[in-house]
Amino acid sequence: MVADTYTLELPAERVLVLDFGSQYTQLIARRVRECGVYSAIYPFDTPVDSIFEFQPTGIILSGGPATVTEEFTARVAPEVLQLGVPVLGICYGMQTIVAQLGGQVENALVHEYGHTEMNLVGTSELLTDTSSDPVSEASTTMNVWMSHGDRVIEMPPGFESIAESAASPYAAIADTSRHLYGLQFHPEVTHTEGGKEILKRFLLVICGCSSGWQTGSIIDAQIDSIKQIVGTDKVILALSGGVDSSVCAALLHRAIGDQLTCIFVDNGLLRLNEAQIVRRNMVEKLGVDVVTVKAEDRFFTALSGVTDPEEKRKIIGREFIEIFQEQSRELQGIKWLAQGTIYPDVIESAGANTQKAKVIKSHHNVGGLPDSMHLQLLEPLRELFKDEVREVGVELGLPPDIVYRHPFPGPGLGVRILGEVKKQYAELLRLADAIFMEELVRNDLYYEASQAFAVFLPVKSVGVVGDNRAYEYVVSLRAVQTQDFMTARCMRIPFEILEAIASRIVNEIPGISRVTYDISSKPPATIEWE
Ligand code: XMP
Repeated sequence: MVADTYTLELPAERVLVLDFGSQYTQLIARRVRECGVYSAIYPFDTPVDSIFEFQPTGIILSGGPATVTEEFTARVAPEVLQLGVPVLGICYGMQTIVAQLGGQVENALVHEYGHTEMNLVGTSELLTDTSSDPVSEASTTMNVWMSHGDRVIEMPPGFESIAESAASPYAAIADTSRHLYGLQFHPEVTHTEGGKEILKRFLLVICGCSSGWQTGSIIDAQIDSIKQIVGTDKVILALSGGVDSSVCAALLHRAIGDQLTCIFVDNGLLRLNEAQIVRRNMVEKLGVDVVTVKAEDRFFTALSGVTDPEEKRKIIGREFIEIFQEQSRELQGIKWLAQGTIYPDVIESAGANTQKAKVIKSHHNVGGLPDSMHLQLLEPLRELFKDEVREVGVELGLPPDIVYRHPFPGPGLGVRILGEVKKQYAELLRLADAIFMEELVRNDLYYEASQAFAVFLPVKSVGVVGDNRAYEYVVSLRAVQTQDFMTARCMRIPFEILEAIASRIVNEIPGISRVTYDISSKPPATIEWE
């Protein structure tokens, strides 16, 4: 059985973000960490005992899609507002504080969306830098980002208004004696001028935090705690070549050296030279013990004749697990299974559990390893956001171009070859993808894309190469820009660059006669084609 999961030791100062369903909740938690304070996200209806147990230094109530003008919508546990711990409500979070403490919220006739000019009322610890001298010279207006239909029309007893806009008489409110604050606008989005400064004042001035959370500074503490937990036991990790498992391996290796063995499965569905890159970075550079399993033929055989995307994902996942089990049986005395789970995975699986989200694609991760392996789970990155994981990776000596690489799905090229997966298709696709990446890097566009790749279309198209007729396959290029991969927009790559890439692909890869560019957004399309 997979027993307890051991994760990071939490710092003493921590802020709890209670999630009311806003699309910006993760952004709030990330901004808090950027201000040097550890944060975690819990659902708004977390039992108060668990909230007490977390011992928050401050609490932030997120926005949300509901309206407090209806009786049975989400509310914060009343005890949270009586704890004496500073609370900041943002948008819906502010409205619920108001509604719960005796004020009034109404559906406004005029909705405010986007940039809004807001006037400060007097000075406040939250909105004004009261340490600057003289305070009176501080600007009295702010350009903030609003996104709300409801508004506060009467404050609860004890509150004062600290800002107003044309449509919101109470755009920001405070009850300094109870340490309760509310913002109708969103300080977490970059469109709000000085938004991060507001969060910083809440955290440092009002909550009294000391800004000590630095991703780099957790490495030493993490290494000590991994050493203590693991002792002299042996650990295995499935290394995919992706950022999370690579950083996890580098961290564990720093902590326990040779007690860690990584298993890297070359399933024939990897990017060009992936296996060599993993070897170079993990084995040669860091000295990590990596067992490479060459299993191309096994995967292609298992996938032969299969065209359904979900079926393909299941087969790739199943083969992977079988190989992983076979390999781990050969290693003696393994007690721990390490995984590169990161905080968004934790939040998303919690969200998926509570909201019973519809499965659009079943993402394959090592999480599917069977309980019968009798291993304890070690997830040292479980508390970190992706950008923090990347910082840790760089600190641990992984090359930045690996750490900042675009995400690559677990089933790899298996979901980028439409329909049946064949070795020949994978070889052609790898080459096309490599040319696309090379050109993006050369034109300084790689990091402007959140994710870019080529897709293999198993249809043939006529072309002319030299004086000859060609009748070959088609690839499509896809590049998207996104914050969270839940929604995405096709990237507007300059046309001349696209043309040059297409020309290189058709001229350099015999077997491909045509290149298209995918201009779909997500939704309704998804990022991957399958
Ligand atoms: P979609 O295609 O769902 O992709 O819009 C969103 C993000 O998830 C990645 N993705 C996967 N990752 N296993 C993974 O580990 C999968 O099966 C899988 N399918 C999609 C995709 O690359 C994008 O970053």
